[in-house]
Amino acid sequence: MSDVTPAGYTRNLVDEGNGKFNLMILCWGEGHGSSIHDHTDSHCFLKLLQGQLKETLFEWPDRKQPGGMVQKSQQVLLENQCAYINDSIGLHRVENVSHTETAVSLHLYSPPFQTCQTFDQRTGHRNTVKMTFWSKFGDRTPYETTISQENN
Ligand code: SIN
Repeated sequence: MSDVTPAGYTRNLVDEGNGKFNLMILCWGEGHGSSIHDHTDSHCFLKLLQGQLKETLFEWPDRKQPGGMVQKSQQVLLENQCAYINDSIGLHRVENVSHTETAVSLHLYSPPFQTCQTFDQRTGHRNTVKMTFWSKFGDRTPYETTISQENN
């Protein structure tokens, strides 16, 4: 879920909707995929612009009973198909499982959110991660410096 995720897809912010939503284009190379994640109480709409993506839905893990995450369903989204998820539906992972084709998808998150939770499929353990963008409004996002100004 970071700007270039370990799994490689890029998140590109197109419009902030006056603070009401984030409209993004996600570009997926062959084999790229998201972590299992929630949507921080937002609505998430998704439309396939090019290629195909596999969406796997999971149940929320039980904090009191750590263990493998339970898969609810799976669907392959084809070009022009749409999907919707929010936290009451569950968690999901989105993947371009193709070895030969890239994929491009349009995502609308409303309201926008700055962090979300990612989940380890094997243990159900969660981490809070920051949402970042590879580009904003067509410009490459500068790398964030980790040295705070106060130290300079
Ligand atoms: C993401 O926002 O990075 C993953 C895609 C999604 O949840 O729709």
